[in-house]
Formats: sequence, C-alpha cells, structure tokens
Amino acid sequence: MEKIQVIDDEASRLTLPKVPPRQEAGQQAATAKVQKELIGTAENRLWLMHENNLLQVLMDNLPDFIYFKDVHSRFTRINKAHARHLGLQQPEAAIGKSDADFFPMRLARQKLVDEQCLLATGKPILGLIEKSDTAGETKWLSSTKVPIYAADGKISGLVGISRDITAAKEAEMERQAMEAQLRQAQKLESIGQLAAGIAHEINTPTQYVGDNTRFVKDSFPAIMQVLKSHEDLLAAVKNQAVTPELIARSEVLIKESDLEYLYVQIPTALGETLEGVERVSKIVRAMKEFSHPGGKGKSLADLNKAIESTATVARNEWKYVADLKLELEPELPLVPCFLGEFNQCVLNLIVNAAHAIGDVVKKNPGTKGLITVQTRRDGDHVEVRVTDTGTGIPESVRPKIFEPFFTTKDVGQGTGQGLTVVYANVVKKHGGTVTFETELGRGTTFILRLPLHPPPPAKGGEG
Ligand SMILES: Nc1ncnc2c1ncn2[C@@H]1O[C@H](COP(=O)(O)OP(=O)(O)OP(=O)(O)O)[C@@H](O)[C@H]1O
Ligand SMILES: [Mg+2]
Repeated sequence: MEKIQVIDDEASRLTLPKVPPRQEAGQQAATAKVQKELIGTAENRLWLMHENNLLQVLMDNLPDFIYFKDVHSRFTRINKAHARHLGLQQPEAAIGKSDADFFPMRLARQKLVDEQCLLATGKPILGLIEKSDTAGETKWLSSTKVPIYAADGKISGLVGISRDITAAKEAEMERQAMEAQLRQAQKLESIGQLAAGIAHEINTPTQYVGDNTRFVKDSFPAIMQVLKSHEDLLAAVKNQAVTPELIARSEVLIKESDLEYLYVQIPTALGETLEGVERVSKIVRAMKEFSHPGGKGKSLADLNKAIESTATVARNEWKYVADLKLELEPELPLVPCFLGEFNQCVLNLIVNAAHAIGDVVKKNPGTKGLITVQTRRDGDHVEVRVTDTGTGIPESVRPKIFEPFFTTKDVGQGTGQGLTVVYANVVKKHGGTVTFETELGRGTTFILRLPLHPPPPAKGGEG
C-alpha cells in the first residue's frame, strides 16, 4: 500500500463530486445548494480544500478501483489502482474513454448495458460479481455503482467501486473443483465397496440356478428311457405284437425313474431357476441404473425407482443387520435432479443407517433393526426420509457430522466423507436441504428436501 499523502494543492484544481452519491436526489440537491453558498468565503475555501484532499487521498490510496463516469458511461475520473488495472500510466489517460477502449467487446457491452440501466432508473448496482479481462490479466471484481445527481436533481453520471476478489474467487473455484473430485472419488470408492457385495448377491441365485438346471439335466435320461419304452410299446400295440416282457419293462422303468417325484420337482426347479435369473438381472439392472443413471446433466427423475435400485445394490450392506422397508408415495412427481448424485446420497444414508444398526446388533446378537426409506411430496418439495433404529447420534457429535473427514468409525469402516457428499449434492447442487432428527438409543432420521422448481443457476459466476 502506498504511503498516505495529504495534498495541500489549490482547492479549485480538484473537482469534488457535486454531492455525496449515497444521498437521495432531493437531499443531494439541497446539500449542493448549501455547498455553493459556502464556497466564496475564505473559511469555506479551506473547508473545500480539506474535503478535496480527503477525496484525493481516498482515490490515491485505496486498493479498490474507483471511477466516475458521465451519462454516456465515459470515464471522467479514475483512481490510480484502476488506472493500473486498465494498463494506464496515469489516471488522467482514462478521461473521455469508455470500457470498450479497455475490455473485450462482450464484457464492455455488458457493463454498458448495466450502467445505462442504472443511469436511466437510478437503481444502484450492489456487489455485482463480474469478470474483468484486460490485456494482461483476468480479475474477478465485486462492483458497486451508484448514480450521481446534479443540482437540478437529474442523474449526471455514476461512481463505481470495484473490489478485486480474484483470490477469494479462485479459492472458491478450487474448493468447488475439490468437492467435485471428492464426490467422484467417493462414488468410485463406494462402487468398489459395493462390487464385493453385489458379487455375493449375484452368487447366491447363480448357485441355485446351476443346481436346479443340473437336477433337470440329471433327471432327463431317466425320463427319456421311460418315453423310449413307451414308444416301443406304442409300436408293438400298432403291430399287435405286445408281449408281457415289453409291458413289464415299461413298468420297471417308470418305477425306477421315480416319475411322481419328478412331476413335482422339475416344475419347481424350473420356476426357481427363472426366479434366480430374474433376480440376477434385477441386480444388474439396478447396478446399471445406480452407476450410469442417464446423462450427466439434470433431468426429471423418478426418485422412487432410483431408491429401489440403490436399496437393491446396497442389499449386502444392510441385510445381515436389518430389514429394509420402502414406503414410497406412488404419485410422487418427477424431480429435476442429477440422478447419479442423488443415488450416491441415498446409498450413503443407507450405509450409515446399517452401520448404526450394526452397532446395536453387536450388543444384542440375534436381533435385527429396521431401515425405512420414505418419499412424499410436500408442497414445492419432495421429501426423502431415511430412518434407522440404530444408536442415534450423541450430542457432542451432532455439530460435526457434515464436516469433511469427520468420522467416529474405525479405520476401514468410514472415512468421514459420506455426509459431506450428501450435503454438497443436496444443498449445493440441488438447492435443497438436509436435516436430521436423532434420539440416543432409538435411532436417526435423515431428511432430504429437493425443490420441484429450483431457481436457475446464478449468472456471472462459474460452477
Ligand atoms: N444414521 C446414523 N446414525 C448414527 N450416527 C451417524 C449416522 N449417520 C452418520 N452418523 C455419524 O456421523 C459420522 C459421519 O458420517 P459420514 O457418513 O460422513 O462418515 P462415515 O460414515 O464415518 O464414513 P464414510 O461415509 O466416508 O464411509 C459417522 O462417523 C457417525 O458418527
Ligand atoms: Mg457414511
């Protein structure tokens, strides 16, 4: 920062804005009148000089960019910091020029549109986040611009102050990128973790599909022998050559092949096989829906279907400690949603619920808990509740559960990312809310609320 310097130059050289810009038009006109009357006396020349010096000190030493413009958005005065940003040696070099002389066309046009609107309506621009590309650098600015009123009450120009927030903006963008990476890493991690469970889930039906098919195959030669002997018998009947031996042989084969048993068992085995195949394809379908739920963008999604898929792929995570009940509102409207992210949230909540119940089951072996997933419409939102009959969350832990890497679990069981991802996905990506209700020894409910009509993403910023 430069050293503060008070200028004791002649007051008349400095042009003071006619009135302080933050005053109302009427008030400003009155103040201007009083100022006019005051100028003229020696005492007031001193006062004016002092005021001008203050302004000059402010202009020269504030790191913010300060600029005055006329009604055509042409610079009438800028400070040193702004001159540096515009690539000028002296602030005076900006006088008479406009943004189009310094910024790319699109940016200059946007600034002009904003300022002309301000000049026409008198409505100030407050804290506008804007990108500012000059020849040498790109900066992010937070700009406030207000109108200046002349003595006649008409708008005679504007004054703007822009603060360089590049460092904060870059840190924010970096944080967003890190969050996206975290989400991706957690997704991959949980797919890896789920893979083992899914392999197990697929293995069970595959095994009995194999057993049953083998049973049908092994039974078939005996059935074939009976059929063959009946063919022989039929041929003999046609030729009127039936012998007692032929009849006896058929009777023996029927007895040996235990047809009564096969009549019952084969249809059962085939039924179970079809059921097993159906289960395997359901798991594969759910896995596909979980990991590749359509495009990357936001689309109208059936959350009930997504919850069913997620509960299916996560079955191995909960089935040893809990039953899982779905209470899904049948007429639930479609929700604008990043489905992959939503699935990840539901998975994280179900896994947390299973862990909390697991801790209870460990103390009471042989018991089982319950996870309930509910959906319902509530006005402009869809609410998803994941309730468990687990340990509940201790009071000292409650404020920290959404913090990145906060976990109470042993190494290998948790990394403390689950709820951070839920929060980032629901709140930041969907404009929704995440809350929870918990009671020690009774259990916990996590409540996600997703808006049915989310506001469009903010303009001007990135990400
Ligand atoms: N349903 C729940 N019941 C009880 N405690 C919970 C529940 N959900 C979360 N917690 C607490 O919040 C902490 C943070 O949860 P989070 O999902 O973020 O991380 P984690 O489960 O420990 O690890 P990760 O999800 O990364 O595997 C947990 O360690 C646990 O103490
Ligand atoms: Mg977790």
